[in-house]
Amino acid sequence: QFGAADIGVAGKDVLMEHGAEGLYEPVDLKIAKCKLMTAGLADANAETLNKNGRLRVATKFVNVAKRFFESRGEQVEVIKLYGSMELGPIVGLADLIVDVVDTGNTLKANGLKPMDHIADVSSRLVVNKAAMKMKHEKISDIIEKIKAAVEKNA
Ligand code: PRP
Repeated sequence: QFGAADIGVAGKDVLMEHGAEGLYEPVDLKIAKCKLMTAGLADANAETLNKNGRLRVATKFVNVAKRFFESRGEQVEVIKLYGSMELGPIVGLADLIVDVVDTGNTLKANGLKPMDHIADVSSRLVVNKAAMKMKHEKISDIIEKIKAAVEKNA
């Protein structure tokens, strides 16, 4: 983003959370696939979730969570956590979490269940916009080669 590198690889979850200003995202590498989801205690339901008024959502994906609940017209309190989000509902710090889910094993191991699907995630090739202008030919060539490799593996 700040031009230290011309090309990089970043997860769609990170791009969604931090914004992709100054970056092109020319190729979905179709690897490291997972989903951004909400999750709650395995026995959570509309009644238990609504009993305390405004929902508390623990996550490191603060912006993604805010946008998701806003899009549903729900006002929630988002609590920023830096790791082990699964603990949020267990210790009563939060009603829900927003996290990336792959196999679902982490949720299950913590007595949680996946709830709403927010977005599909995979690794993306990213290119600094200024570098794309300055080194167009070189970077375009790399992009085309990577695209071809991704298609070959599809
Ligand atoms: C992610 C996420 C869960 C786990 C989900 O953590 O935070 O802990 O993967 O995967 P699962 O559904 O297959 O169990 P990750 O290992 O990417 O590390 P992080 O906590 O640093 O994001």
